[in-house]
Amino acid sequence: MTLQNQHILIGITGGIAAYKICELIRMFKKSGADVKVIVTPNALNFVTKLTLQNLSQNDVYEGEFTPKNWKPEHISLADWADIMLIAPATANTIGKIVQGIADNLLTSVACAFSKKMIIAPAMNCNMWQNVAVQNNLNILEGRGVEILPPDNGFLACGYIGKGRLCSLEKICSAVDEALNYQQILKGKKVVITSGGTIEDIDPVRYISNYSSGKMGLSLAKTAYDMGAEVVLVTTKDVEAPYKVTKVKSALDMQNAVNNEYDGSDIIIMAAAVADYRVKNYSEQKMKKGGNENLTLELVKNPDILAELCKKRQAPLPNPLPQGARENKIIVGFCAESENLIENAKEKISKKGCDFLIANDISRKDIGFGSDNNEVTIFDKNGGINKLEKASKQVIARKILEYITNE
Ligand code: C5P
Repeated sequence: MTLQNQHILIGITGGIAAYKICELIRMFKKSGADVKVIVTPNALNFVTKLTLQNLSQNDVYEGEFTPKNWKPEHISLADWADIMLIAPATANTIGKIVQGIADNLLTSVACAFSKKMIIAPAMNCNMWQNVAVQNNLNILEGRGVEILPPDNGFLACGYIGKGRLCSLEKICSAVDEALNYQQILKGKKVVITSGGTIEDIDPVRYISNYSSGKMGLSLAKTAYDMGAEVVLVTTKDVEAPYKVTKVKSALDMQNAVNNEYDGSDIIIMAAAVADYRVKNYSEQKMKKGGNENLTLELVKNPDILAELCKKRQAPLPNPLPQGARENKIIVGFCAESENLIENAKEKISKKGCDFLIANDISRKDIGFGSDNNEVTIFDKNGGINKLEKASKQVIARKILEYITNE
């Protein structure tokens, strides 16, 4: 592990595992990191400021109203840090961060912090299982925070169960990985689409599909963790630390993607775009009347992916518009229920994209709505790479690593 010159901000809350963080600080310092520590007032019941100050070789921060320069402390610390680690994190502090409560220095910094955050909870096993705590952790995970779940074992409160702080080695490698990971797509803008488009029929009805948007969301989160500037164009409600543009129809999606086109380095079309929309949208709710049958006339939607690839082929304007990027990577997805290889190969050449990620939708255990996926990556030069079944998060990571390494 080398963390040379990395700025690690550690938040210690009031749990008995606070004493273990003394050793953790030493581990970070030995690997070259600059460490600053914030404590909640309760943390000081378990460790002393002097110990933490000696080990981190920096001031220990506690109060909000004693800044060492003109900048409010919660902002200067948030700006200084490359990563924020909260360990041990109590149920109380986790709950406050979820709600945006900023009633001490640690929770105020957390509120002002927009970079990578890792939380290592530690608490009594019954507290850990509490629905409120679990819901709060899910919410934080959805916002891009990495949670390092506690281990099973003897707890300081006398219970045996899940609740003890995970190992310091695990925390170190999560921090190390996150910091190195942040470099991979640094300076790159990645545009990702997700979810099924919604094509209105009248004010109360629409045509759509079963896409959950989870694959695109996992890609967005992973690209963000890899340091990219991310724009997620999605039909779903998403709360995220990167830019999210909510759209409805295929035409809305095309507009939103086109608006991001010039400045983007990578475009990943993971959305399930409806191929057709109704020709004549009815401003009023359509009535049954006496009709036994109803025929809706549909017109073709633009193929957003194919048009992006066509646009890329056109000669670049000289000079390039400000902020525009050359050598874009464009990635499509396809969902096939039969002849996956033949169809995918044909599609990649027809659309003109660099990579096509093929889902086999005849499988019930993966794909639509599932948290898992198994995909095959096709590249424009004929390469085929199958990714074994794994969580969408793992698949997202492998896809991004693959398309940026080729
Ligand atoms: O042709 P097919 O729908 O299988 O292609 C799927 C890929 O093309 C996906 O990446 C999807 O986001 C994109 N697509 C599109 N515009 C459409 C239909 C699909 O960009 N109208």
